[in-house]
Amino acid sequence: MRPTKAVIDLAALRHNLERVKTIASDSKVMVVVKANAYGHGLVEVAKALPSADMFAVASLDEALILRQAGIRQDILLLEGFFQAKELPIIQRNQLQLVLHHQAQIEQLAAYQTITSDPNPIKVWLKCDSGMYRLGFALEQVAAAEKALSALSIIEQPIKLMSHFACADSDQEFSQAQISKFAEATQDLVGQRSMANSAGILTQPNAHWDWVRPGLLIYGASPMLDSMASDFGLQPVMSLESQLMAIKPIRQGQSVGYGRNWFAKTNGNIGLVAIGYGDGYPRHAKNGTPVWVNGRQVPLVGRVSMDILAVDLGADSADNIGDRVVLWGKELSMETVATFADTIPYTLCCGVTSRVPFEYINADDSHHD
Ligand SMILES: Cc1ncc(COP(=O)(O)O)c(C=O)c1O
Repeated sequence: MRPTKAVIDLAALRHNLERVKTIASDSKVMVVVKANAYGHGLVEVAKALPSADMFAVASLDEALILRQAGIRQDILLLEGFFQAKELPIIQRNQLQLVLHHQAQIEQLAAYQTITSDPNPIKVWLKCDSGMYRLGFALEQVAAAEKALSALSIIEQPIKLMSHFACADSDQEFSQAQISKFAEATQDLVGQRSMANSAGILTQPNAHWDWVRPGLLIYGASPMLDSMASDFGLQPVMSLESQLMAIKPIRQGQSVGYGRNWFAKTNGNIGLVAIGYGDGYPRHAKNGTPVWVNGRQVPLVGRVSMDILAVDLGADSADNIGDRVVLWGKELSMETVATFADTIPYTLCCGVTSRVPFEYINADDSHHD
């Protein structure tokens, strides 16, 4: 069998949630599990986190998968609803909504007149404090809140949220966002949420009632100049394969499509059974580290769909079948992301469906 697999360590996942709870000790934690839990497996991740106070997803489909799997915690739809016909399903499944534009309030007002479901809908008013993505402009927040407060179908008080544009890189701008959000909502009493992973680490005064970590829970750092281990977090995903062939190479010979790497000396090339068809980034540069037998060796030549090559060196004592780690505990996703001109988010989200997933340490009694 092809040895490529993603190993998901559920004990590391639980550990990371506890770390976030320690870092944001006065806040509740809404674990962001959108995009198939950042590629880690939506249901498996949610089931492994009974102590998550809430989950956040991007779509109704994701939320319903969680409900069908028996997940009972509150679930927030980060993008709200797209069409009014979703509202009965949202209400029946007790999903919470982000509201980010006026038409949604009007649709809720119309829905209130036709529904016979007595369950209130819980909503979060999204305030745009500088991301310029979803959300009400700050000067519209008070009026939107007032309009929502008048709707009996909506649970009161209205909860309030905003989102950082660059908590990983620009602390001055982030602090300005915090002040603006605080000012726009100063007369409102609802619970507040602002901090994503970078905000949790860099802006403790923005932890407020709820933090919304994604990447930290999966054991990677959102900041370019740091590693998850700097914050006591453990990588959750390990993308692994094996050496499927080893070949001698002579000085001057090239490896792979396009001939973009030439051997400077005689040596040995290891062929690893993984490629961009599995989600390993095709644009990873020559020299991207790959872990083999306790050391890091450089990726050489272009990554192809099913195979990549590494330089094992002239003294290689490696064997076919030896374990190779593309990222995981032995080699951080953050490091690989830098060599591939990307961020850890795209690496874990990008593992493709042909890769088998193995879940380890599901048992809660496992201690790290
Ligand atoms: C609104 C919102 N909150 C929180 C998060 C979690 O972000 P991160 O993974 O950086 O913690 C996201 C993810 O993009 C988001 O869109």
